[in-house]
Amino acid sequence: MAIKIKEFINRLKEYNTTWKTEPRSGQLHSISVLFDTPDQIIEAAKATANAGYKKFDVFTPYPVHGMDEAMKMKESKIGWIALLAGITGAITALLMIGWMGGIDYKNIIGGKPFFALPGSIPITFELTVLFSALVTTAAMVALFNKLPWTSNPLHETPFMKSVTSDKFGLVIEAADKHFDERNVENFLGQLHGHSIEKVYYPIPDVGKTKTPVFDLKFMGVIAVTAILTAIASYAVLNKVLYTQPFNWMWEQPRLNPQAQSNFFGDGFGMRMPVEGTVARGFIPYEYKGMPDSVIKLLANPLALTEEVIQRGKVKFDIFCSPCHGYYGQGDGRLKGQFPNPPTLHSEKVRNWQDGNIYNVITNGQNVMPAYDKSVAREDRWAIIHYIRVLQRSQNAKDTDLEGK
Ligand code: HEC
Repeated sequence: MAIKIKEFINRLKEYNTTWKTEPRSGQLHSISVLFDTPDQIIEAAKATANAGYKKFDVFTPYPVHGMDEAMKMKESKIGWIALLAGITGAITALLMIGWMGGIDYKNIIGGKPFFALPGSIPITFELTVLFSALVTTAAMVALFNKLPWTSNPLHETPFMKSVTSDKFGLVIEAADKHFDERNVENFLGQLHGHSIEKVYYPIPDVGKTKTPVFDLKFMGVIAVTAILTAIASYAVLNKVLYTQPFNWMWEQPRLNPQAQSNFFGDGFGMRMPVEGTVARGFIPYEYKGMPDSVIKLLANPLALTEEVIQRGKVKFDIFCSPCHGYYGQGDGRLKGQFPNPPTLHSEKVRNWQDGNIYNVITNGQNVMPAYDKSVAREDRWAIIHYIRVLQRSQNAKDTDLEGK
């Protein structure tokens, strides 16, 4: 592991030195000249461009209008890079959205088409901007500004001090095709400037020509700064400024059914309803204490529809079939554990009025418990309709076959 890291560091060092062949220290970099007014520098720039020099540059304390034309600068190519990157971004976005929604993961959302341009515009716009911004920045830094080279022999000169204060400067680089030390000196002398100076690449002991980005100390400082910043932001956001998330509704106090509670003396979480409470669908039996003759006349309030019969069947199967059996023959699953009920197909029950059966379900009869608390009123009547269906299925008349 340690060897691998060392190897890696050596690689970086090698890469660092071979990135660009370093100019000989003490070699001439350029010749500079200073002017006092913006008009003079414009004239000087025009003259230099007309003389055929290409690798020259102009330094002013503030932007001087007309300088680009005076220097005969070509339009920067960065715009084309931004355009290409933007188009790439837009195409990428459309392909991505089209593939995701239209091919790979088709989802019906409100009946909308799987791919449509209007809905894709926000993301397309975002990717267009993102691609062009990132590529433009990267291209500018790497191609045009030539990073990672961060220093220039001009930096530490009196020339640079002047042009960043109140003077206007022009520099012709030794790298120019037409550069000849004496000719350039003569040429600059004719431009009515002053302080003509030669700029040399510094000798290593005196100053460095470059600031290596892969320098271990530099990287170390960046890493330590990043770690400290991360720790500081974590501490501030999570400890100092932390506020509880708004989860009051999510985490409100509550009791699960059957759960214990220390709030009440008896320790029960569930409470009996207040006396006189009437649950929905459980209106108290209105014929309590009335003579049988009246109860028998109670009429079924539900229409005889398939839906009602279905409901009656569901409720009968749940509440009655354990004792009475699925067909009401008195042969339910509780056989032997509970007194067998009589069949519901007897003459007696077949001839009963609906009110009579209702009375038995509601109040119970002898050992059969009352169902007024567990089966809602409407459901009791639905069960009666279903019992009639069961009865008719066992005692059909000839006329039933005729479909009447
Ligand atoms: C726990 C068992 C049990 C359940 C459940 C039960 N019954 Fe009964 N049922 C009986 C018994 C036992 C009898 C006979 C009672 C008696 O001796 O009078 C009976 C009697 C009846 C009678 C009167 C029959 C007669 O000939 O006198 C009807 C009608 C009736 N039950 C309907 C129902 C309906 C409807 C349900 C469902 C809501 C139901 N029962 C649920 C046990 C049960």
